[in-house]
Amino acid sequence: MIKVENVIKKFNDFTAIDNLNLEISEGEIFGLLGENGAGKTTTLRILATMLKPTQGKATVCGYDTVKDDAKVRENIGILFGGETGLYDRLTARENIEYFGELYDMSKDELKKEIEKVAEALSMKEYIDKRVGTFSKGMKQKVAFARSIIHNPKVLLLDEPTSGLDVTAAVEVHNFIKECKKAGKTIIFSSHTMSEIEKLCDRVAIIHKGKLIETNTLKGLKEKYNNDDLEEIFTTLISNGGEK
Ligand SMILES: Nc1ncnc2c1ncn2[C@@H]1O[C@H](COP(=O)(O)OP(=O)(O)OP(=O)(O)O)[C@@H](O)[C@H]1O
Ligand SMILES: [Mg+2]
Repeated sequence: MIKVENVIKKFNDFTAIDNLNLEISEGEIFGLLGENGAGKTTTLRILATMLKPTQGKATVCGYDTVKDDAKVRENIGILFGGETGLYDRLTARENIEYFGELYDMSKDELKKEIEKVAEALSMKEYIDKRVGTFSKGMKQKVAFARSIIHNPKVLLLDEPTSGLDVTAAVEVHNFIKECKKAGKTIIFSSHTMSEIEKLCDRVAIIHKGKLIETNTLKGLKEKYNNDDLEEIFTTLISNGGEK
């Protein structure tokens, strides 16, 4: 479903992604785990066609992220933390509708889907209020709703719970699980193993642009003979990626 093959991404002389290889199957929730600056956002931006690899290639649903970028965009929903790109003067519903219309969704279809997602993410109370007055967490949920409204096969979520309180984070987690049940393939990035543990089938640990481990959570526990995944992560990272 998603393939990253020998991808290198340089910013001038700096190598942000260093020969990354990943393969993610249909219907998986795949975690990208790494510290600040590890290369998570860069990897997701490459998959989202927002950045071109310096070397190597990536495909999403069989489409090359450089050569078939429009096709890739049709198949993905993206959420990048921080810059939500919502219009403050529009309501939450209008923001979501505007995006759905870009994907040629009908009014009826949009109404139905917005109803569903507003319910799942507890946004009903403020769905018809202007986004300009919203808290960071409320905006993040609207941005999440917008990213999935066109029913994409693949979701690329960059720290989707960043800035959310516990309740909102749980709602987002549950919603991600629902998306998996609906057959979507999901990659999401996080700093913390505990979040990955709640949701993921498999995880890739990246450190300074290098992949240091890809495994199932069970596989990690067995390989390092330790039930504490957080400890496995910190040990791997503090060894600078040396196994
Ligand atoms: N446009 C850019 N120009 C120069 N360097 C960049 C650019 N984008 C990212 N980098 C560098 O690439 C490295 C990886 O950055 P990236 O944003 O992918 O990390 P991250 O894992 O998402 O970190 P965080 O957890 O802080 O979000 C960092 O050292 C960053 O400074
Ligand atoms: Mg990032």
